[in-house]
Amino acid sequence: MFSINNIIRENIKNLTPYSSARDEFKGEASVYLDANENAYGSPLEQQYNRYPDPLQYKVKKRLSDIKGVPPRNIFLGNGSDEAIDILFRSFCNPGVDNVILVPPTYGMYQVSANINDVYVKNVLLTEDYQLNMEGIAEAIDKHTKIIFICSPNNPTGNSINRDDIETLLANFNGLIVVDEAYINFSRQKTFIQELTEYANLVVLQTLSKAWGLAGLRIGMAFASEEIIEVMNKVKPPYNINEASQELALKALQNVEQVNGWIKETLAQRDRLVLNLKNFDFVLDIFPSDANFILVKTTDPKAIYNFLVEKGIIVRDRSKVDLCEGSLRITVGTPAENDILLNTLQEYK
Ligand SMILES: Cc1ncc(COP(=O)(O)O)c(C=O)c1O
Repeated sequence: MFSINNIIRENIKNLTPYSSARDEFKGEASVYLDANENAYGSPLEQQYNRYPDPLQYKVKKRLSDIKGVPPRNIFLGNGSDEAIDILFRSFCNPGVDNVILVPPTYGMYQVSANINDVYVKNVLLTEDYQLNMEGIAEAIDKHTKIIFICSPNNPTGNSINRDDIETLLANFNGLIVVDEAYINFSRQKTFIQELTEYANLVVLQTLSKAWGLAGLRIGMAFASEEIIEVMNKVKPPYNINEASQELALKALQNVEQVNGWIKETLAQRDRLVLNLKNFDFVLDIFPSDANFILVKTTDPKAIYNFLVEKGIIVRDRSKVDLCEGSLRITVGTPAENDILLNTLQEYK
């Protein structure tokens, strides 16, 4: 049986978190002399002289309306990269515990593990980019705290079979992190609705992709109240700055615009696939549930360099296990995709 008490680090369980001025007085007052801020203002049109809400209630309330999850089940990070790091710091004892990664996948899980001195057990995806369930079962030991699954997966673009993820959720006594950074582009439904079913589920999403807010650095983790409480204890007190909170709140009113872009991106993705198939240096294009496609080519390095010379940057993934020969191409605007396709016409 999963129990948070079996996986939380002892020092985190016993941690007294930092108590900020904004934690200690939460009401409205006319004179704030409690946080050593500059009482005169900011040398800007906008005023940022006050510390932001440490728990970002307004943004969470809006996200709660959109996602159908209570604010107490939402953690906000300075990008989902911060949420990933905080999961390591909360649940993995350096030099003792391990996590399971299923490459090829998003690179930050490995980097965060290395920073936190947490051992990584890699279980490669199968040839069709699905979970190797037997391999994962064999890799789990008593020190395995987290299994990271990215779905839709970066860099392969496909979604991971839902039944396999559910099997892991039902049988693994550590955390299953399902990273849904690209879920808005997917035909699959989110795992958020499974939160009431599985106490060991953490779903990551981000405002950096479909929402078009990569520069604001806001990532989300959805999980049980117990897990969210631990993450809030470990995070830096003011991890989401005031400007980001204000702008995110404003942006989250524009659901229609974002939905329009998603629709356009999917149409452009289909168009790219259709047109790229015609090039004889393209060997394969993997089915994508994301806003990018993985394209297997005869000559990835040469094509990459050719595109760079023309001012077009794609991602060379050809050195990554199971991605030999492949370039990862983000779906651009119609005009950008025109430029890409026209430029590739010139490639011999
Ligand atoms: C799968 C996946 N997760 C997380 C991230 C990072 O997101 P954020 O900008 O919220 O840190 C990325 C960014 O490329 C990603 O591909």
